[in-house]
Amino acid sequence: MLLEVDGLHAHYGKSHILHGVSFAVPRDGIVSLLGRNGSGRSTTLKAMMGIVPPTSGRVRLGNIELTGRRPYAIARHGLGYVPEERLVFANLTVRENLAMGVQRSQSGERAWTVEDMYTYFPRLRERRDVNAGSLSGGEQQMLTICRSLLGNPQVLLIDEPTEGLAPKIVEVVMDVILDIRRRGVAVVLVEQKLTIALRIAETVFVMGHGEIVFSGSPEELRSREDVRREWLQVA
Ligand SMILES: Nc1ncnc2c1ncn2[C@@H]1O[C@H](COP(=O)(O)OP(=O)(O)OP(=O)(O)O)[C@@H](O)[C@H]1O
Ligand SMILES: [Mg+2]
Repeated sequence: MLLEVDGLHAHYGKSHILHGVSFAVPRDGIVSLLGRNGSGRSTTLKAMMGIVPPTSGRVRLGNIELTGRRPYAIARHGLGYVPEERLVFANLTVRENLAMGVQRSQSGERAWTVEDMYTYFPRLRERRDVNAGSLSGGEQQMLTICRSLLGNPQVLLIDEPTEGLAPKIVEVVMDVILDIRRRGVAVVLVEQKLTIALRIAETVFVMGHGEIVFSGSPEELRSREDVRREWLQVA
């Protein structure tokens, strides 16, 4: 396993949010974290990134212990993060935002280039000299994904990338995620849309009340109507 999350606990002040979250991500794999609103999916990603420092538990990437490190150090070691809130530098252009994301590739893989990003999202090429603050929500989402990819992560954590996107763009984002995996980057995908997770992930983890309540293949989850009814909105 490339990335191992083991017994993660996290708190916001006195509220105990994560209760021992454990899962693993294989090299070149896509895993998805599913669950209802408030089940702790975003907090899991933030705890892995050190943004909400875990109160106990461990996160390991290959041989590197990430637990207790600062977010920038965790990013430098190879965890990329696309947060729920689109994070762009509003007063910088698209091109400048992309330039800010560039970091050398850690593995032997060919590094991602700004040109790759424009190929994925031609809309960003068209708007490369526009300030990011005046992009639409969907365009800001694309830009956030691209910025994270240009950091050449070994694992990309993506929080609801298709939220609020037009169906056509959702398809593009899914193709990009599949291409990311083909190029050797593992993906942890937090999704609200069950159909998307079932289509692209090899393993799905369902969260409820800050714990993993189901793990299995998409086929297994498809056959578990009870799990879907109890822990996901869709029956
Ligand atoms: N900054 C915060 N301070 C206090 N409580 C928080 C904070 N952020 C989240 N929580 C609480 O932690 C719990 C888990 O939230 P989290 O954001 O991880 O859920 P989620 O599964 O990502 O759901 P969604 O994104 O749909 O809201 C919720 O009860 C939420 O209210
Ligand atoms: Mg969330």
